[in-house]
Amino acid sequence: MPETVLVTGGAGFIGSHTCVELLDHGHEVVVVDDFSNSSPGAVDAVMKLAGRPLTLHHADLRDRAALDAVFVDHDINAVIHFAAKKAVGESVRIPLDYFDINIGGTTALLRTMNDHGVHRLVFSSSCSIYGDTSKVPLDEDDPAGPTNPYARTKYICEQLLGDACVRYPEMSVIALRYFNPIGAHPSGMLGEDPTGVPNNVLPYMAQVAVGRLDELPVFGNDYPTPDGTCIRDYIHVVDVADGHRVALDHLDDEPGLRVFNLGAGRGASVLELIAEFGRAVGRPIPYRMEGRRSGDVPMLIADPGRVERAWGWRTTRDLTAMCEDAWRFQRLNPSGYPAT
Ligand code: UD1
Repeated sequence: MPETVLVTGGAGFIGSHTCVELLDHGHEVVVVDDFSNSSPGAVDAVMKLAGRPLTLHHADLRDRAALDAVFVDHDINAVIHFAAKKAVGESVRIPLDYFDINIGGTTALLRTMNDHGVHRLVFSSSCSIYGDTSKVPLDEDDPAGPTNPYARTKYICEQLLGDACVRYPEMSVIALRYFNPIGAHPSGMLGEDPTGVPNNVLPYMAQVAVGRLDELPVFGNDYPTPDGTCIRDYIHVVDVADGHRVALDHLDDEPGLRVFNLGAGRGASVLELIAEFGRAVGRPIPYRMEGRRSGDVPMLIADPGRVERAWGWRTTRDLTAMCEDAWRFQRLNPSGYPAT
């Protein structure tokens, strides 16, 4: 059934790809974004790709009056909540911003949803809540142990959502714990375009490949992994977007909070990722070894079994596709989205 879906943070990396999926599947999309780490150019690209418009509201979720007006203007059936800050290192430096924006934004959204009788929510969570664990792979019943403020805000939001579901049994919430989303839309029109120097490894190396940055710092080569660099479960952003679209279809399966990993169930080290991206680019990516980054853990790999058992859903795009698609976007948009 077509729905009217509010997508917070819909101009961001995962949000914009999810908007394309939703529009392609007949849903109406309303985006709220404050463009603090995204660009209106992404929204233009979404509409061009989908061949259909969405409605855009430039607002901060904590602006209760602005958010209320969005719910008054549109008959929202469900919400997908991405809007948040997401840099691990930055969260150690400015934790209060993370508490305020990630937790404050989520509670403001919940309150407004409640005021307007909207009870269906897909929440953007993170594998980082598992913290420093040596267990491989990780399933949803493994204990949480956030090692940085960013991860803690995601875990606290999951707990708040669980408490809200107990108080309001009509609520249905799905938290998707993504592992490491990278890649881009295969058209090359939509991708990752962070503001300032990238925090995450793939956009950093993509900017090295187009000459905007000199070389990739590799944070640590003395981890207990085969080549000494950290291992992550990279997942194509279009798979992540598809996972949200499918989650929406399953919101009514049962009430309460449900949690699912979104990952491929396979890991790649930083050096393996550099090699794969170099193959996509057609030349090696310059890098230098640096010390460990605070808050990093050696290895995080998903057990993707729960979501497959529940919905028959699994990832379909491999590391080669992730690198080729990310490179296509960066090559076609060397300076990111055009300023609008
Ligand atoms: C972190 C979170 C993840 C979250 C993501 C959002 C953890 C464990 N994971 O992912 O849940 O979704 O942020 O931003 O907190 N690296 C380099 N050089 C760089 C950048 C990164 O070597 O310039 C390495 C990192 O040490 C890490 C890997 O690349 O081993 C991936 O890093 P990154 O892309 O920043 O993601 P995570 O920190 O794994």
